[in-house]
Amino acid sequence: MSGLVDGRVVIVTGAGRGIGRAHALAFAAEGAKVVVNDIGAGADGSATGESPAEQVVAEIIAAGGQAVVNGDDVADWAGAENLVRTAIDTFGGLDVLVNNAGFLRDRMLVGMSEQEWDSVTRVHLKGHFAPLRHAAAYWRAESKAGRPVDARIINTSSGAGLQGSIGQGNYAAAKAGIAEMTIQAAAELKNYGVSVNAIAPAARTRMTVGAGGAMAEAMAAPEEGFDAMAPENISPLVVWLASAESKDVTGRVFEVEGGKITVAEGWRHGPSQDKGDRWDPKEIGPVVADLLAKAEVPTPVYGA
Ligand SMILES: NC(=O)c1ccc[n+]([C@@H]2O[C@H](COP(=O)([O-])OP(=O)(O)OC[C@H]3O[C@@H](n4cnc5c(N)ncnc54)[C@H](O)[C@@H]3O)[C@@H](O)[C@H]2O)c1
Repeated sequence: MSGLVDGRVVIVTGAGRGIGRAHALAFAAEGAKVVVNDIGAGADGSATGESPAEQVVAEIIAAGGQAVVNGDDVADWAGAENLVRTAIDTFGGLDVLVNNAGFLRDRMLVGMSEQEWDSVTRVHLKGHFAPLRHAAAYWRAESKAGRPVDARIINTSSGAGLQGSIGQGNYAAAKAGIAEMTIQAAAELKNYGVSVNAIAPAARTRMTVGAGGAMAEAMAAPEEGFDAMAPENISPLVVWLASAESKDVTGRVFEVEGGKITVAEGWRHGPSQDKGDRWDPKEIGPVVADLLAKAEVPTPVYGA
Protein backbone atom coordinates (compact mmCIF):
# COMPACT_ATOMS: atom_id res chain seq x y z
CA MET A 1 0.00 0.00 0.00
CA SER A 2 1.40 3.41 -0.89
CA GLY A 3 1.89 6.02 1.82
CA LEU A 4 0.66 9.62 1.86
CA VAL A 5 4.23 10.96 1.68
CA ASP A 6 5.92 8.15 -0.24
CA GLY A 7 9.51 9.03 -1.16
CA ARG A 8 9.34 12.56 0.24
CA VAL A 9 12.46 13.69 2.12
CA VAL A 10 11.52 15.12 5.50
CA ILE A 11 13.55 16.80 8.24
CA VAL A 12 12.03 16.70 11.73
CA THR A 13 13.92 18.76 14.31
CA GLY A 14 13.91 17.67 17.95
CA ALA A 15 12.74 14.24 16.79
CA GLY A 16 14.49 12.19 19.48
CA ARG A 17 11.66 12.57 21.97
CA GLY A 18 8.08 13.60 22.48
CA ILE A 19 6.06 15.04 19.62
CA GLY A 20 9.01 15.15 17.18
CA ARG A 21 9.67 11.45 17.69
CA ALA A 22 6.00 10.70 16.98
CA HIS A 23 6.24 12.78 13.78
CA ALA A 24 9.38 10.95 12.60
CA LEU A 25 7.78 7.53 13.12
CA ALA A 26 4.52 8.65 11.46
CA PHE A 27 6.42 10.03 8.45
CA ALA A 28 8.40 6.81 8.03
CA ALA A 29 5.18 4.78 8.30
CA GLU A 30 3.74 6.84 5.42
CA GLY A 31 6.76 6.21 3.21
CA ALA A 32 8.95 9.29 3.82
CA LYS A 33 12.74 9.32 4.12
CA VAL A 34 13.40 11.01 7.43
CA VAL A 35 16.27 13.09 8.79
CA VAL A 36 15.89 12.65 12.54
CA ASN A 37 17.47 15.71 14.14
CA ASP A 38 18.06 15.97 17.88
CA ILE A 39 20.80 17.45 20.01
CA GLY A 40 19.86 15.25 22.98
CA ALA A 41 19.10 18.16 25.29
CA GLY A 42 17.58 17.97 28.76
CA ALA A 43 14.09 19.39 29.34
CA ASP A 44 15.71 22.76 30.15
CA GLY A 45 18.17 22.61 27.25
CA SER A 46 21.15 21.39 29.28
CA ALA A 47 23.47 18.77 27.77
CA THR A 48 22.68 15.12 28.64
CA GLY A 49 25.17 13.13 26.57
CA GLU A 50 22.23 11.06 25.30
CA SER A 51 21.42 10.52 21.62
CA PRO A 52 17.71 9.70 21.42
CA ALA A 53 17.72 10.44 17.66
CA GLU A 54 19.82 7.30 17.12
CA GLN A 55 17.16 5.19 18.83
CA VAL A 56 14.43 6.68 16.64
CA VAL A 57 16.44 6.01 13.49
CA ALA A 58 17.07 2.42 14.64
CA GLU A 59 13.33 1.99 15.24
CA ILE A 60 12.46 3.29 11.77
CA ILE A 61 15.05 1.09 10.07
CA ALA A 62 13.94 -1.97 12.06
CA ALA A 63 10.41 -1.38 10.75
CA GLY A 64 11.73 -1.30 7.16
CA GLY A 65 11.83 2.49 6.75
CA GLN A 66 14.58 4.94 5.77
CA ALA A 67 16.09 7.44 8.20
CA VAL A 68 19.34 9.16 9.11
CA VAL A 69 20.54 10.86 12.30
CA ASN A 70 21.53 14.51 12.52
CA GLY A 71 22.80 15.91 15.82
CA ASP A 72 23.11 19.60 14.98
CA ASP A 73 21.87 22.43 17.17
CA VAL A 74 18.96 23.89 15.18
CA ALA A 75 19.68 27.42 16.41
CA ASP A 76 23.31 27.33 15.25
CA TRP A 77 23.63 28.93 11.81
CA ALA A 78 26.19 26.50 10.41
CA GLY A 79 24.46 23.60 12.19
CA ALA A 80 21.13 24.44 10.51
CA GLU A 81 22.89 24.62 7.16
CA ASN A 82 24.47 21.22 7.81
CA LEU A 83 21.06 19.81 8.76
CA VAL A 84 19.63 20.79 5.36
CA ARG A 85 22.81 19.50 3.69
CA THR A 86 22.40 16.13 5.48
CA ALA A 87 19.02 15.65 3.79
CA ILE A 88 20.36 16.56 0.35
CA ASP A 89 23.56 14.50 0.65
CA THR A 90 21.81 11.44 2.10
CA PHE A 91 18.55 11.34 0.17
CA GLY A 92 19.22 13.55 -2.85
CA GLY A 93 16.98 16.48 -1.95
CA LEU A 94 14.58 17.99 0.55
CA ASP A 95 10.78 18.27 0.39
CA VAL A 96 9.63 19.00 3.94
CA LEU A 97 11.01 20.77 7.00
CA VAL A 98 9.21 20.22 10.29
CA ASN A 99 10.54 22.69 12.89
CA ASN A 100 9.78 21.23 16.30
CA ALA A 101 12.87 21.31 18.58
CA GLY A 102 12.93 23.38 21.75
CA PHE A 103 12.96 23.53 25.53
CA LEU A 104 11.58 25.55 28.43
CA ARG A 105 13.02 27.74 31.17
CA ASP A 106 9.90 29.02 32.87
CA ARG A 107 9.88 32.06 35.11
CA MET A 108 7.63 35.05 35.77
CA LEU A 109 8.83 37.98 33.65
CA VAL A 110 9.59 40.03 36.75
CA GLY A 111 12.25 37.53 37.89
CA MET A 112 13.46 36.23 34.53
CA SER A 113 17.21 36.32 33.86
CA GLU A 114 18.76 37.51 30.63
CA GLN A 115 20.08 33.98 30.09
CA GLU A 116 16.60 32.44 30.53
CA TRP A 117 15.21 34.90 27.99
CA ASP A 118 18.03 34.49 25.47
CA SER A 119 18.28 30.68 25.57
CA VAL A 120 14.54 30.05 25.11
CA THR A 121 13.97 32.67 22.42
CA ARG A 122 17.12 31.38 20.69
CA VAL A 123 16.17 27.71 20.56
CA HIS A 124 12.57 28.32 19.43
CA LEU A 125 12.62 31.48 17.32
CA LYS A 126 16.12 31.33 15.82
CA GLY A 127 15.87 27.52 15.91
CA HIS A 128 12.92 27.82 13.54
CA PHE A 129 14.36 30.61 11.40
CA ALA A 130 17.82 29.12 10.77
CA PRO A 131 16.65 25.77 9.24
CA LEU A 132 13.84 27.62 7.41
CA ARG A 133 16.36 30.04 5.91
CA HIS A 134 18.71 27.33 4.64
CA ALA A 135 15.88 25.11 3.35
CA ALA A 136 14.28 28.10 1.61
CA ALA A 137 17.57 29.00 -0.10
CA TYR A 138 17.79 25.43 -1.43
CA TRP A 139 14.21 25.52 -2.75
CA ARG A 140 14.68 28.95 -4.32
CA ALA A 141 17.79 27.65 -6.14
CA GLU A 142 15.88 24.57 -7.29
CA SER A 143 12.98 26.70 -8.50
CA LYS A 144 15.30 29.12 -10.34
CA ALA A 145 17.06 26.16 -11.99
CA GLY A 146 13.67 25.16 -13.42
CA ARG A 147 13.23 22.03 -11.30
CA PRO A 148 9.70 21.56 -9.86
CA VAL A 149 9.38 22.33 -6.14
CA ASP A 150 6.42 21.16 -4.07
CA ALA A 151 7.84 21.79 -0.62
CA ARG A 152 6.46 22.30 2.86
CA ILE A 153 7.48 23.89 6.12
CA ILE A 154 5.52 23.02 9.24
CA ASN A 155 6.42 25.12 12.27
CA THR A 156 5.54 24.50 15.90
CA SER A 157 3.91 27.33 17.80
CA SER A 158 2.00 26.87 21.04
CA GLY A 159 -1.14 27.94 22.85
CA ALA A 160 1.30 29.95 24.98
CA GLY A 161 2.26 31.92 21.89
CA LEU A 162 -1.32 32.40 20.69
CA GLN A 163 -3.05 33.19 23.99
CA GLY A 164 -0.21 33.76 26.49
CA SER A 165 0.78 31.60 29.46
CA ILE A 166 1.59 32.74 32.98
CA GLY A 167 5.24 32.07 33.86
CA GLN A 168 6.29 31.45 30.25
CA GLY A 169 6.95 34.95 28.89
CA ASN A 170 10.16 33.99 27.05
CA TYR A 171 8.55 30.91 25.48
CA ALA A 172 5.25 32.66 24.67
CA ALA A 173 7.02 35.55 22.92
CA ALA A 174 9.09 33.11 20.83
CA LYS A 175 6.04 31.02 19.93
CA ALA A 176 4.03 34.13 18.97
CA GLY A 177 6.99 35.08 16.76
CA ILE A 178 6.88 31.63 15.17
CA ALA A 179 3.17 32.05 14.34
CA GLU A 180 3.94 35.37 12.64
CA MET A 181 7.02 34.01 10.87
CA THR A 182 4.76 31.29 9.44
CA ILE A 183 2.47 33.87 7.80
CA GLN A 184 5.50 35.86 6.69
CA ALA A 185 7.31 32.87 5.15
CA ALA A 186 4.12 31.63 3.47
CA ALA A 187 3.82 34.96 1.64
CA GLU A 188 7.52 35.20 0.75
CA LEU A 189 8.04 31.59 -0.38
CA LYS A 190 4.80 31.04 -2.30
CA ASN A 191 6.43 31.79 -5.66
CA TYR A 192 9.08 29.12 -5.08
CA GLY A 193 6.52 26.32 -4.56
CA VAL A 194 6.81 26.24 -0.77
CA SER A 195 3.81 26.29 1.56
CA VAL A 196 4.26 27.14 5.23
CA ASN A 197 1.91 26.34 8.11
CA ALA A 198 2.19 25.96 11.87
CA ILE A 199 0.67 23.83 14.57
CA ALA A 200 0.02 24.61 18.22
CA PRO A 201 -0.04 21.14 19.80
CA ALA A 202 -0.95 19.83 23.23
CA ALA A 203 0.33 16.42 24.31
CA ARG A 204 1.89 14.44 27.13
CA THR A 205 5.69 14.81 26.88
CA ARG A 206 8.39 15.63 29.39
CA MET A 207 7.81 19.29 28.45
CA THR A 208 4.26 19.25 29.78
CA VAL A 209 4.35 16.60 32.50
CA GLY A 210 8.02 16.59 33.52
CA ALA A 211 7.39 18.84 36.49
CA GLY A 212 4.42 16.76 37.70
CA GLY A 213 1.48 18.57 39.33
CA ALA A 214 -2.02 19.24 38.01
CA MET A 215 -0.93 19.37 34.36
CA ALA A 216 0.65 15.91 34.61
CA GLU A 217 -2.52 14.55 36.21
CA ALA A 218 -4.75 16.07 33.53
CA MET A 219 -2.56 14.53 30.82
CA ALA A 220 -2.27 11.03 32.30
CA ALA A 221 -3.16 8.15 29.98
CA PRO A 222 -6.59 6.62 30.65
CA GLU A 223 -6.74 2.95 31.66
CA GLU A 224 -8.79 2.22 28.55
CA GLY A 225 -10.17 4.01 25.50
CA PHE A 226 -8.70 6.85 23.44
CA ASP A 227 -5.51 8.32 24.93
CA ALA A 228 -6.23 11.94 23.94
CA MET A 229 -2.92 13.32 25.23
CA ALA A 230 -0.62 10.85 23.42
CA PRO A 231 1.93 12.73 21.28
CA GLU A 232 1.09 10.40 18.37
CA ASN A 233 -2.25 12.26 18.02
CA ILE A 234 -0.42 15.37 16.79
CA SER A 235 1.36 13.74 13.85
CA PRO A 236 -1.46 12.86 11.38
CA LEU A 237 -2.17 16.57 10.67
CA VAL A 238 1.57 17.24 10.26
CA VAL A 239 1.97 14.32 7.84
CA TRP A 240 -1.02 15.56 5.83
CA LEU A 241 0.35 19.13 5.79
CA ALA A 242 3.60 17.64 4.43
CA SER A 243 1.84 15.77 1.63
CA ALA A 244 1.05 16.80 -1.94
CA GLU A 245 -2.64 17.04 -0.92
CA SER A 246 -2.08 20.16 1.22
CA LYS A 247 -0.64 22.24 -1.65
CA ASP A 248 -3.27 24.99 -1.43
CA VAL A 249 -3.11 25.38 2.35
CA THR A 250 -0.56 27.95 3.45
CA GLY A 251 -0.05 30.65 6.07
CA ARG A 252 -2.30 28.89 8.61
CA VAL A 253 -1.93 27.99 12.27
CA PHE A 254 -3.78 24.89 13.52
CA GLU A 255 -4.33 24.02 17.16
CA VAL A 256 -4.27 20.24 17.59
CA GLU A 257 -4.98 18.10 20.63
CA GLY A 258 -6.31 14.54 20.86
CA GLY A 259 -8.77 14.11 17.99
CA LYS A 260 -9.49 17.83 17.70
CA ILE A 261 -8.14 20.17 14.97
CA THR A 262 -8.91 23.89 15.28
CA VAL A 263 -7.99 26.72 12.93
CA ALA A 264 -6.44 29.50 15.01
CA GLU A 265 -7.73 32.86 13.89
CA GLY A 266 -5.10 35.45 14.62
CA TRP A 267 -4.65 39.19 14.60
CA ARG A 268 -7.06 40.98 12.33
CA HIS A 269 -8.45 44.49 12.01
CA GLY A 270 -11.29 44.80 14.55
CA PRO A 271 -13.71 47.69 15.17
CA SER A 272 -12.27 51.10 14.34
CA GLN A 273 -13.20 54.76 14.40
CA ASP A 274 -11.54 57.35 12.16
CA LYS A 275 -11.84 61.03 13.10
CA GLY A 276 -10.18 62.10 9.88
CA ASP A 277 -7.97 64.40 11.92
CA ARG A 278 -5.55 64.11 14.88
CA TRP A 279 -7.21 63.10 18.14
CA ASP A 280 -6.91 65.20 21.29
CA PRO A 281 -5.82 62.83 24.14
CA LYS A 282 -8.80 64.05 26.20
CA GLU A 283 -11.21 62.74 23.53
CA ILE A 284 -9.79 59.20 23.49
CA GLY A 285 -11.44 57.66 26.61
CA PRO A 286 -15.01 57.25 25.27
CA VAL A 287 -13.72 56.29 21.81
CA VAL A 288 -11.68 53.38 23.19
CA ALA A 289 -14.56 52.37 25.50
CA ASP A 290 -16.89 52.22 22.49
CA LEU A 291 -14.39 50.25 20.38
CA LEU A 292 -13.71 47.73 23.17
CA ALA A 293 -17.46 47.28 23.69
CA LYS A 294 -17.73 46.28 20.02
CA ALA A 295 -14.55 44.13 19.93
CA GLU A 296 -14.31 40.41 20.66
CA VAL A 297 -13.19 39.58 24.20
CA PRO A 298 -9.65 38.08 24.06
CA THR A 299 -9.19 34.39 24.91
CA PRO A 300 -7.89 34.29 28.50
CA VAL A 301 -4.15 33.82 29.11
CA TYR A 302 -3.37 30.24 30.22
CA GLY A 303 -3.03 30.07 33.98
CA ALA A 304 -4.45 33.57 34.58
N1 LIG B 1 3.96 19.00 24.60
C1 LIG B 1 3.08 19.96 24.44
O1 LIG B 1 1.92 19.91 24.92
C2 LIG B 1 3.45 21.16 23.62
C3 LIG B 1 2.55 22.25 23.63
C4 LIG B 1 2.84 23.34 22.82
C5 LIG B 1 3.98 23.35 22.04
N2 LIG B 1 4.85 22.30 22.09
C6 LIG B 1 6.04 22.35 21.26
O2 LIG B 1 6.25 21.11 20.62
C7 LIG B 1 7.63 20.93 20.37
C8 LIG B 1 8.07 19.57 20.88
O3 LIG B 1 7.96 19.56 22.29
P1 LIG B 1 7.81 18.23 23.16
O4 LIG B 1 6.69 18.46 24.08
O5 LIG B 1 7.82 17.04 22.29
O6 LIG B 1 9.17 18.33 24.03
P2 LIG B 1 10.38 17.29 24.26
O7 LIG B 1 11.25 17.91 25.30
O8 LIG B 1 9.84 15.91 24.52
O9 LIG B 1 11.13 17.24 22.85
C9 LIG B 1 11.89 18.32 22.38
C10 LIG B 1 13.14 17.76 21.71
O10 LIG B 1 13.90 18.87 21.17
C11 LIG B 1 15.27 18.57 21.34
N3 LIG B 1 16.07 19.80 21.29
C12 LIG B 1 16.13 20.78 22.24
N4 LIG B 1 16.98 21.74 21.85
C13 LIG B 1 17.46 21.39 20.64
C14 LIG B 1 18.36 21.99 19.71
N5 LIG B 1 18.94 23.16 19.98
N6 LIG B 1 18.61 21.36 18.53
C15 LIG B 1 18.03 20.16 18.25
N7 LIG B 1 17.18 19.54 19.10
C16 LIG B 1 16.90 20.15 20.27
C17 LIG B 1 15.35 17.87 22.69
O11 LIG B 1 16.55 17.12 22.82
C18 LIG B 1 14.07 17.02 22.67
O12 LIG B 1 14.31 15.71 22.20
C19 LIG B 1 8.34 22.12 21.03
O13 LIG B 1 8.58 23.13 20.07
C20 LIG B 1 7.32 22.60 22.03
O14 LIG B 1 7.51 23.94 22.40
C21 LIG B 1 4.61 21.21 22.87
